[in-house]
Amino acid sequence: MMTQLVLIGFMGAGKTTLSQALGAATGLPVYDTDDLVAAAAHQTIAEIFAAEGEAGFRQRETAALAEALRHDPAIIATGGGIVTQAENRARLAALAIPVVQLTVTPAEINRRLAGTTDRPLFQENWPALLAARQPWYATSANHLLDTTGRSVPALVAELQAIL
Ligand code: S3P
Repeated sequence: MMTQLVLIGFMGAGKTTLSQALGAATGLPVYDTDDLVAAAAHQTIAEIFAAEGEAGFRQRETAALAEALRHDPAIIATGGGIVTQAENRARLAALAIPVVQLTVTPAEINRRLAGTTDRPLFQENWPALLAARQPWYATSANHLLDTTGRSVPALVAELQAIL
């Protein structure tokens, strides 16, 4: 019996918040690829980008996704760039579990990420990054959930319904 669910989507879409809330509501363990990467490296995400570049971070992130998926039950939150790697897109698309793309309006992304300090790729040109990635989120996910203007409890209820 597989009780796993993966959250994907752009920075600020609510992956971390909703994974924690869903974990609290269900009692299921939560794995966050950013946390797994930081813990394994004993460094923050920004420090890893500075020391190893994005390529080094992506290698670590790909390994973290594979590790997270070995756990069952598991609520898995991913970094917004997980879909930049073809290997991860193929892995996600092949899963027989809910892979939920969270979406949110650009205005809400700006509001949620104002003052962010540990996201090296959140810069002024983030809309271009989002546009480039959107097809990859779409091919990797099998569910779509818009978080704009919705409460955390309402979104958790939706996720529980597809878990
Ligand atoms: C990234 C998103 C971040 C983190 C890293 C790179 C990206 O995760 O993995 O800063 O490329 O979009 P969040 O989506 O949780 O912010």
